[in-house]
Amino acid sequence: MVQYETGKAMAGRVCVMFLAIALALAACGRGERSLTAEGAALYLGNCAVCHGGDASGGGGASVPGLSKTPPDLRVLALNAGGTFPAREVLAVLNGYHKGGQPGRRMAGFQSLESERRRRIKIGDVRLRPSEPMAALLLYLDSQQIR
Ligand code: HEC
Repeated sequence: MVQYETGKAMAGRVCVMFLAIALALAACGRGERSLTAEGAALYLGNCAVCHGGDASGGGGASVPGLSKTPPDLRVLALNAGGTFPAREVLAVLNGYHKGGQPGRRMAGFQSLESERRRRIKIGDVRLRPSEPMAALLLYLDSQQIR
C-alpha cells in the first residue's frame, strides 16, 4: 500500500514535469509563430507598397521616383541555391535603413529599429538582429518558394 502511494506520488511528479516541459515547448513555438505574424504586419506596413502584398514584386508603379522594379522577394532562397540568405537580406535592410546604399531606391525603415534584440536561427544561420528585423526575416523566410 505504501509502495503504491509512493508510486502514485512519483507518477504525479513525473506528470507535472512533462506538463511543464510541454508548456515550455508550446510557449517557444508560439513565440516564433507570433514573431512571424508580427513580421507579416511589418511587411505589409513597410514593404508591400513596392514588393506587393504577396511579396511577388513588381509593385511600386504608384511610388513616385522609383526607377527600378521592386524584385520578387519569394525567390531569394531559390536564387541563393535553396537556402534563404538571411544574413545578406539583413545586410541589405540594414544598409537601406542606414541610407548606406547610394543609388538604391528603398526607403528608410525607422520602425524596424529597436533596442530589443532577438536570437533567431534560419537554416544554419544564427543572427541576433533587432526584434522587428528578426520578425521580418522570419516572415520573409516563410514566404520563400522552395
Ligand atoms: C519604395 C519602394 C520599396 C520599398 C518600400 C521596399 N523596397 Fe525592397 N527593393 C525595392 C527596389 C526598387 C529594389 C531593387 C533595388 C536595386 O536592386 O537597386 C529592392 C530590393 C530589395 C531587396 C534585395 C533583393 C535582391 O534580390 O537582392 C530586398 C531583400 C528587399 N528589397 C526587401 C525589402 C523589405 C523587407 C522591405 C520592407 C521593410 C522593402 N524591401 C521595402 C523597392 C522597395
